[in-house]
Amino acid sequence: MSVTVIVGGQWGDEGKGKIVDILSESHRIVVRYQGGANAGHTIQIKDKKYVLHLIPSGILRDDVICVIGNGVVIDPAALLDEIKLLKENGISVEGRLFISQNAHLIMPYHKIIDSLNESGKTKIGTTGKGIGPCYIDKYARKGIRIIDLLDPVKLEQKIRENLVEKNNLITDFYKSEKLDVDKIVDTYLAFDREIDPYIKNVPSYLNKAIAEGTSVLLEGAQGALLDVDHGTYPYVTSSNPTSGGACTGTGIPPTKITEVTAIIKAYTTRVGEGPFPTELLDETGEKLRAKGFEFGATTGRPRRCGWFDAFLVRYSCMINGTTSVALTKMDVLDSFPEIKVCTGYLHNGKLLNNFPVDCDILNDLIPVYETVEGWMCDTSKCLSYDDLPQKAKEYISFISEKAGMNVTIVSVGPNREQTFFVN
Ligand code: GDP
Ligand code: IMO
Ligand code: MG
Repeated sequence: MSVTVIVGGQWGDEGKGKIVDILSESHRIVVRYQGGANAGHTIQIKDKKYVLHLIPSGILRDDVICVIGNGVVIDPAALLDEIKLLKENGISVEGRLFISQNAHLIMPYHKIIDSLNESGKTKIGTTGKGIGPCYIDKYARKGIRIIDLLDPVKLEQKIRENLVEKNNLITDFYKSEKLDVDKIVDTYLAFDREIDPYIKNVPSYLNKAIAEGTSVLLEGAQGALLDVDHGTYPYVTSSNPTSGGACTGTGIPPTKITEVTAIIKAYTTRVGEGPFPTELLDETGEKLRAKGFEFGATTGRPRRCGWFDAFLVRYSCMINGTTSVALTKMDVLDSFPEIKVCTGYLHNGKLLNNFPVDCDILNDLIPVYETVEGWMCDTSKCLSYDDLPQKAKEYISFISEKAGMNVTIVSVGPNREQTFFVN
């Protein structure tokens, strides 16, 4: 029996979807614990590509049960679209998708406020999915939850109460158009019928399953450096993607977690605004983007690219308590004759001991690089660790030592087959 948390070890898009799909072969339940449809988790099976935003990445295996935990913020329209799309592809979620009663609902005003906020002075570069405004309401204790869908009278009352305040904010502060209250009430009352069958008491269900010896995967979205507490604040998301969030976001206690696997890219990317010490704003960065096809799975935005940052990953492994690492996208580095790795940060002439919490420092530091020789051959057809060229093995050993990580899985392409375990 194992209860494994899967976390993004950098700024998201590390390949979590792919690795969760692979690991779900040996797990019975996969649970999303935070974030919402801001996530875009890609799974490629032969020529067919699936991008999941809310539904856990175990859904493509028909013996796996998928659960959306209380820490996730759910846009019901996006969820139903995803269910429909899966059905059109012959994947049924009936009887194997469950949603926590106390997960919060994303409302139309959350998405509108998200985009209005982004037109202000501090642009975060959000995905525009209403994530931040929904979590604000959750913590302000004004949120509307999945369970509220079961009581139409209470639901209507809550929506109307919320809309008085939101419409004031939208018209008076943002000088934008007032929202149609009746239309929103009607839309959300109608979600009840469609979402009811999936609603479950998730903490009881999961704890019972664990007590019976069932193996569970807890699928994080985003990444450690986007964590609202431990990331590059304020350029973060509004939840806790780090491993601690897996407990609060599901109702599984910390004493039941057996492993934390971080998914880490062989280089670094970031989408949206915010500091990025190893970013490459030159041809090398463009080459990484082109070879890695680094465009957002949710918004299509080009991802910013840069060298592997071992100092950052060391910090990420510390706050996540990472026990093992799946290293992805090794193949993207196949044609780089020299590869740089950041091993420390210089600020005001001094080497930093800790990852800075201040974005002004992160924007002002000089990354210290060590250069290693590239392997200059195709790794995408390697079937085992032994198949890798010697220099690729040396790169993995080098970054593992510098970042203090234990690589147990290597990925050399988007497909399921392009993955192997390190002996
Ligand atoms: P996630 O958000 O962490 O699930 O990652 P995304 O799906 O947003 O982005 C990862 C992208 O890289 C997807 O297009 C994957 O199909 C692709 N991918 C995953 N692993 C590999 C790999 O080892 N090599 C290559 N070339 N692509 C990969
Ligand atoms: P997955 O799960 C990469 C980024 C946005 C923005 C910041 C805040 O696919 O790895 P938000 O909409 O959450 O308020 O945006 O976080 N962001 C992601 N970046 N991968 C993601 O998810 C992300 N989800 C949010 O680009 O910088
Ligand atoms: Mg993604």
